[in-house]
Amino acid sequence: MKILGIETSCDETAIALFDNEKLLYSKVSSHLIHKKYGGVVPELASREHDKILPKLFKDCLKSSKLSPVEIDLISVTQGPGLAGSLISGASFAKGLSLANKIPIIGINHLEAHIFANILSDPNLKFPFVCLLVSGGHTQLWHVNGLGKYKLLGETRDDAAGEAFDKGARILGLGYPGGPEIEKCAKNGNTKKINFPKALMSKKNLEFSFSGLKTSLLYYYRNNSKTDIADIAASYQSSIIETLLQKLSWSLDLTNCNTCVIAGGVAANSHLRNIAHKFLPKKKIIFPKMEFCTDNGAMIAYLAYLYSKNGKFTEIDFKIYPNMKINQYAV
Ligand code: KG4
Ligand code: ZN
Repeated sequence: MKILGIETSCDETAIALFDNEKLLYSKVSSHLIHKKYGGVVPELASREHDKILPKLFKDCLKSSKLSPVEIDLISVTQGPGLAGSLISGASFAKGLSLANKIPIIGINHLEAHIFANILSDPNLKFPFVCLLVSGGHTQLWHVNGLGKYKLLGETRDDAAGEAFDKGARILGLGYPGGPEIEKCAKNGNTKKINFPKALMSKKNLEFSFSGLKTSLLYYYRNNSKTDIADIAASYQSSIIETLLQKLSWSLDLTNCNTCVIAGGVAANSHLRNIAHKFLPKKKIIFPKMEFCTDNGAMIAYLAYLYSKNGKFTEIDFKIYPNMKINQYAV
């Protein structure tokens, strides 16, 4: 069964083709246009998707030697994300579906991030705890199977990725902020500045990163001579240690031995390097690097799992910018 995956929720245009447990094609085009604004400009993102999608789709057909009618299922991100960007992807998918009489399925982007871990490691078994850390979300989920998720905790304000992006802007680094802070922090001293960690009373599974960002702003303003590598390393370490501490508490609470880390922040090498220190004796799974940040493969893979359960979407489906993870669970 050949499944096309289309992802356009934010500033990456991505297409993948998945067939019988195998990924035949997967390309991601990141919009460079936003770099000069230091963040995503929604209007420009929609225009980029409209421009890039047809090119990527043609490239996908060419490289997999297929014609559109040979695609069995079209999957597309239905939410959450930027409204205009979601509409670009959904309109393209609906056009393809109607023109070629191919069934369509709307996919929840966050749920797709969680299942990217099974795409990376097919031996991953339920139940597990997922730390979902992206640009818009920071959540801890107890995952018991497809569509069986319990929210254990989430952020009250900024997401972890957002804390990286806003922190990078304060430090005058580029966008997206995560990779920039990681690069800058490489030879820095993680213990140089004691940045705050919020809501750390025992077993509190909520997050808050807005105070940390403010504290970085004031520190940088008043200590312009401190080595920027030390500031970046200390700031990164405060975010990562908070995430890992809460992940560890959530494993205790659920009696789980396995955890997965999903979303763009899962690409962070400091997180990958120190995770085992916080979670000794636990099985920790990170998705392959190419499945951490937004991609079409995770959309096509989740569509594959849902299609095995006979779930499809009507062609007139709406997009949901604030879609919740279990909004359409089967
Ligand atoms: O999952 P994703 O690609 O898009 C959303 O669904 O939001 O995540 C993007 C976020 C951005 O905030 C970006 O700064 C962060 O992931 N990110 C990282 C790294 N790579 C991407 N954060 C920390 N370290 C990284 N290496
Ligand atoms: Zn994402």
